Amino acid sequence: MKFDLLHTDPLSRARAGKITTDHGVIETPIFMPVGTVGTVKGLHQRELRDEVNPDVILGNTYHLYLRPKTPILEKAGGLHKFINWDRNILTDSGGFQVYSLSANRKIKEEGVKFKSHIDGSYHFFSPESVMEIQRTIGADIIMAFDECTPYPCDYRYAKRSMHMTHRWLDRCINHLEKVPFKYDYEQTFFPIVQGSTYKDLRAQSAEYIANAGAAGNAIGGLSVGEPAEEMYEMTEVVTNILPVDKPRYLMGVGTPINILENIALGIDMFDCVMPTRNARNGMLFTSEGIINIKNKKWEDDLSPIDAMGHTWVDLEYSKAYLRHLFAANESLGKQIASIHNLGFYMWLVREARVQILAGTFYDWKNKMVKKLGERL
Ligand code: GUN
Repeated sequence: MKFDLLHTDPLSRARAGKITTDHGVIETPIFMPVGTVGTVKGLHQRELRDEVNPDVILGNTYHLYLRPKTPILEKAGGLHKFINWDRNILTDSGGFQVYSLSANRKIKEEGVKFKSHIDGSYHFFSPESVMEIQRTIGADIIMAFDECTPYPCDYRYAKRSMHMTHRWLDRCINHLEKVPFKYDYEQTFFPIVQGSTYKDLRAQSAEYIANAGAAGNAIGGLSVGEPAEEMYEMTEVVTNILPVDKPRYLMGVGTPINILENIALGIDMFDCVMPTRNARNGMLFTSEGIINIKNKKWEDDLSPIDAMGHTWVDLEYSKAYLRHLFAANESLGKQIASIHNLGFYMWLVREARVQILAGTFYDWKNKMVKKLGERL
């Protein structure tokens, strides 16, 4: 993997860059749609590629390991082939899902024992096993096995957990050296900064992760319920320390405002279930603010879903029709809303990139942030 830093905004720390992997170019800042179980919910791969057009999508080790299970993915020749997606994929390590989804998990130095949310069976993840699973899934970018601490988290727990994440990182790196790539392309490994909402721990973790010398770095443990201002403070501490010449990925973030504010703090990569999950509940993100399409006020509004929209659904269908689909609980409603929201998120990061390259990002970001949170 190669990262070219093309431009840094003079009034903020925002960056425009370019990641190149064996599956193509990723222009940064980038938003990565979440395809947890091998599908970005509600969209065909062809629709995803032609309408939303992301350079990279996400998969989850936790889910794919439980179903369809790793041997099937190996038989298929990896996740790209299994789901018919020839652009980039990044897999999360399970370091978040194992805590948020499975019941009865037990975290020890050796690893995590957990109960499947699907059938109640017991499993064990260690840094070593998760690296092997990610080799078999075959994503272009693979993540360290970490512990994502909850919010709030007391200082002693956060510190102990951070040190364990660091020891797990060393084990991930050692093990990866012993397990070659499975397919005919390269995989790149990203370590993850933890440290909860404590500046000193965040700084210590960022130093540790920077010293690992990986080709890209991630920040975890944020957007877990803390106030946005605290998230930004943590991002700022960490981006001051992580190397400038490597991409920085902020995991699981966030709202359109969170994304713009974190781009301004030097983040290059984002993922979040919000555009697709909220779409399925009728929440549409637009450049003028947020629409709850289920509201009665849209019942007879025959104007386009989003006159300034960026995918064909925005002009093709009216708000009244989309509201009707939600009222009738038709699956097409969820699909249209998912395409709209992903199209909007992709537009947002692409426009941010254009503004960074033009030197106008800072004012544009401040103007956008005022509008994006409004309820229409
Ligand atoms: N996704 C969102 N936050 C996290 C995190 O802290 N760790 C991992 N592995 N994935 C995440």
